[in-house]
Amino acid sequence: MSLLARWLVFAALVLLAGAVAFAPLVMRTKATAALRTAAAPARARLTQWAALLTALAFVLEFVLRLFDGVATMRDAVLFAVRLAFLIGMALMLRSGRNDAPIPIAASAALVLTQSLSGRSASRPEWVLPVLADWIHFTFAATWLGGVAYFAIVLAPIVLRQRQLLSDLGATIERFSPLAIMSVLVIGLTGIMQSASFVSSFEALFDTDYGRALLVKTGLFAVLIGFGAFHQFVISPQLRAWRARAQSSYEAARRFRVSITAEAAVSALTLAAAATMTVLPAANLAP
Ligand code: HEM
Repeated sequence: MSLLARWLVFAALVLLAGAVAFAPLVMRTKATAALRTAAAPARARLTQWAALLTALAFVLEFVLRLFDGVATMRDAVLFAVRLAFLIGMALMLRSGRNDAPIPIAASAALVLTQSLSGRSASRPEWVLPVLADWIHFTFAATWLGGVAYFAIVLAPIVLRQRQLLSDLGATIERFSPLAIMSVLVIGLTGIMQSASFVSSFEALFDTDYGRALLVKTGLFAVLIGFGAFHQFVISPQLRAWRARAQSSYEAARRFRVSITAEAAVSALTLAAAATMTVLPAANLAP
């Protein structure tokens, strides 16, 4: 049950990051403006649902810790801080200001509360590990939140409004540098954290924690494969829609299937990450 709650927290934070950060970070050019405008109502709905899901996931996790008798003062303080951020975000969204940088900052702060409640925070010298964990999760949330945003918001709109095919191609292209940077940062910070929590090469194969990490790394490689396919195969076909409207439409349909599959792999990756956080670290007895 606590694993499910942890996965829900991760998934909700990723959805929220995609909803608040994708459009301001990726869709800033003229080539993507029409799609951004058409997507605005769906984006507002996604943000509200993601904020609600995040609140429910935090409540569920906190209540479970109370029932298990393991909730600490730190948990209570972080829970209160999280709710304060979410209420602040809800008030901003109600006033229609969902493009402001504050929801993005609030979303990053919520991820920080996660890092402050994790394993890295319980180490004697916790500042650098918590920072690495925060950066790791922030980039994971920005990248996979973007994948979810494509799957839930953008792809369905483009299939209904064909004149936006080229905008979708441009958006995939603009997303690519962010995705590449995320892959590099996640890989680097992931290796840093693994060095702390996996005591040896054998522990990688002989402990549940190590095996969960191997599964997560395998899924990470699959996600990179999806990204390359969208960037090098799908995006050029979408951008050529004026010359080849029918084949671009077919490319958009294929994109919808493959981005949905990528979102499903993202959910599995988050499940592997959640599993790691509820297991003991991979320290084999000498
Ligand atoms: C898209 C791929 C990845 C995603 C979505 C992801 C996600 C996450 C998340 C959500 C956490 C928990 C953060 C927290 O609770 O504060 C985490 C922790 C961690 N990640 Fe990743 N990660 C990915 C790739 C990797 C890779 C490639 C490695 C190793 C090279 C790695 C190693 C770790 C380690 C060691 C931890 C610490 C877990 C703990 O607290 O025990 N991750 N990751």
